[in-house]
Amino acid sequence: MKKKDIDWQNLGFSYIQTDQRYVSNFKDGAWDEGVLTSDANVVINECAGVLQYCQACFEGLKAYTTEDGKIVTFRPDLNAQRMVDSAARLVMPEFPVERFVDAVTQVVKANAEYVPPYGSGATLYLRPYMFGSSAVIGVKPADEFQFRLFATPVGPYFKGGAKPITIRVCDFDRAAPHGTGHIKAGLNYAMSLYAIMDAHNQGFDENMYLDAATHTKVEETGGANFIFVTKDNKVVTPKSDSILPSITRRSLMHVAKEYLGLEVEEREVCFDEVKDFAECGLCGTAAVISPVGKIDDHGKEILLPSGMEEMGPITKKLYDTLTGIQMGKIEAPKGWIHVIE
Ligand code: PLP
Ligand code: COI
Repeated sequence: MKKKDIDWQNLGFSYIQTDQRYVSNFKDGAWDEGVLTSDANVVINECAGVLQYCQACFEGLKAYTTEDGKIVTFRPDLNAQRMVDSAARLVMPEFPVERFVDAVTQVVKANAEYVPPYGSGATLYLRPYMFGSSAVIGVKPADEFQFRLFATPVGPYFKGGAKPITIRVCDFDRAAPHGTGHIKAGLNYAMSLYAIMDAHNQGFDENMYLDAATHTKVEETGGANFIFVTKDNKVVTPKSDSILPSITRRSLMHVAKEYLGLEVEEREVCFDEVKDFAECGLCGTAAVISPVGKIDDHGKEILLPSGMEEMGPITKKLYDTLTGIQMGKIEAPKGWIHVIE
């Protein structure tokens, strides 16, 4: 197929407008049938719920070109279900799982010329989102909503790609116990903006958030979960009610166990243990697996034995297996790959 004239190899993680996006409106208790539109602008009332009280949630997933030239997405049903869960917590209506997957299919098909070619290192990032669109002035949920889904081609989330990054232990909190850390609410990201700009200004790539109640346990970063590897090759990931249940992390734990024969543990991770791990990585749709080489704890540096030059060996195996599955080089577990065309 003819592709757009884009320098795929040098794409960063930023917005490029594509041709078609999906939009559906919820009114009088029901979703309309939804359409594709070429209009990238959203027009809403000045008093819309999203603008006043941040009633919004979103998702993130990618479309890939496989080795044999198909276009696929990875586990879109899990993104759909997580959006159902996010919406429920924010008193928004459920956008049905099948309709979400259908919207993904329609938008990817309509923008197929923007799906980066196999081997380019880039992907088509899909951003479904939902927001309160009707006017509210008292603090209450809107009664009209809009679901949209657009696509934008992206390269690596962190500039160096697979080069290890440096993160710092953050004194700001991301999510309160019993709060909204486990859902993909826009408000979780609004309140992390100050912390990420501060981290960047101090020369760090990302923040490591600790649990808000005690500041002793590892939670996640602003946009990815953690995976650690112990010196005896166990894959460990933090368990917490206030982190986002990452689809990448859940997939990686399966890959570690079933494809690589590694022991895996999902459990509380004390920050004090981190200095004893052999490898550390950030995992998520955007991040894929970004290796961490150094963690700064208020001026005290933890240097991961895997170093600042390349991914640790287990992280690399996880990365290669997961991306191999996504790009059709390695057989996927049943139901993981949704073929678009
Ligand atoms: N944690 C946060 C806060 C995120 O924003 C994301 C991104 O979606 C993730 C984790 C990774 O989740 P997933 O692997 O489902 O993309
Ligand atoms: C993703 O990985 O899809 C995310 O949503 C993380 C970040 C870009 C917000």
